[in-house]
Amino acid sequence: MNAIRLGVIGIGNMGSEHCRNILSGRTPEIRLAAVADLRATRREWAAGNLPDGTAVFGSGSDLIRSRCCDAVLIAAPHGAHEPLAVEALRAGLDVLCEKPMAVTARQAERMLDAARDTGRTLALMFNQRTNCAYRAVKDALARGELGRIKRVVWIVTDWYRSQRYYDSGAWRATWRGEGGGVLLNQCPHQLDLLVWLCGMPVAVQAHCGEGKWHRIEVEDDVTAYLEFDGGATGVFIASTGDYPGTNRLEISGERGKLVCENGGIRLWQLPESERELCFSTDDPWPHPPVQEVALPTDGRNEQHCGVLNAFAGHLLRGEPLVAAAEDGLNAVRLSNAIHLSAWTGERIELPADEERFESLLAERVRRSEGKRGGDATYDTDHRGTGASVEG
Ligand SMILES: NC(=O)c1ccc[n+]([C@@H]2O[C@H](COP(=O)([O-])OP(=O)(O)OC[C@H]3O[C@@H](n4cnc5c(N)ncnc54)[C@H](O)[C@@H]3O)[C@@H](O)[C@H]2O)c1
Repeated sequence: MNAIRLGVIGIGNMGSEHCRNILSGRTPEIRLAAVADLRATRREWAAGNLPDGTAVFGSGSDLIRSRCCDAVLIAAPHGAHEPLAVEALRAGLDVLCEKPMAVTARQAERMLDAARDTGRTLALMFNQRTNCAYRAVKDALARGELGRIKRVVWIVTDWYRSQRYYDSGAWRATWRGEGGGVLLNQCPHQLDLLVWLCGMPVAVQAHCGEGKWHRIEVEDDVTAYLEFDGGATGVFIASTGDYPGTNRLEISGERGKLVCENGGIRLWQLPESERELCFSTDDPWPHPPVQEVALPTDGRNEQHCGVLNAFAGHLLRGEPLVAAAEDGLNAVRLSNAIHLSAWTGERIELPADEERFESLLAERVRRSEGKRGGDATYDTDHRGTGASVEG
């Protein structure tokens, strides 16, 4: 086999972009074999825009059963990720799944179980890991440039959305349709990067503003205090209501700090560890010299094509994935813990009590009123969050 025959399930905004990427020639080891969408309008788009020979199906299940693909890329709404991934894995296909891996950690665990049982690959579309700035931060931390991490502060408020955005789909920003707001839709990338760079927090205490800036029922404003093993702490702030917004990642360590913002990274380094300085100096107000440098990057930013190419390289030659299923589970666990803390007002240790999280989410799904006054352009008729099933 010298090319993977890929089926794209869900060809809405993101799925159709994946098709265009594959057809652009930037993923030479992937061939677009089939697409599927529940919506007739999207199937018509496929018939009119994709090359002859691309099979078009009316549902992900039909595509999986057709046996015309080696692997699938799932780009359907969140609640459909688990059932589609499990079905595809159990049918012997490899799976690349869009973020978030699932709405609940239990769903993500069932996906992982299916991958383990079948020996198939389950990978995640965490395309921000290919961003040269985040890769350079990762390398700097691995080289020990900052020493032991003390604190991470990430402000991610450059996700500004208007009411019109939320009104563009009846499922959007509803407990029933998405299972959450900015945590589930916009932030899975940053939650993943945070864990990738700094490790998994051991506890969170969070506040979420639900419908704070928009006429929606889910959170559009998040502030989470994070605790890590070894005493490091963090603050994660996300909102879709700030304009102009900020995307600023600051990591402080015993030997300095770095700030990643606007695609650039500044690094401040101390001649010795601050911990040693603190207890060895006679100076009550020490100001040791600090070296400030711009941390270079390699400039490569392959995004979705990079993830697709690594997926193909993994299936064909056993090369490393950009993000594996376990990474997806970690990000969902963190997101679930932030929600649970916000709903209960409690400090939540990770992994959070999954049964409790699911039952509180299911309560919200049951009470879900959707959005009043929105002009639901379409409803994807997907299976919802899946949380109602358990609740
Ligand atoms: N990685 C990224 O940069 C990125 C960016 C945007 C969205 N996403 C993710 O991509 C996924 C899709 O988001 P979107 O904005 O494209 O949504 P969308 O609503 O535009 O498209 C989803 C499509 O899936 C179809 N669908 C639903 N259930 C299906 C099924 N069982 N079989 C076949 N088709 C089905 C719907 O009809 C719809 O056309 C989400 O998980 C989202 O978080 C990722």
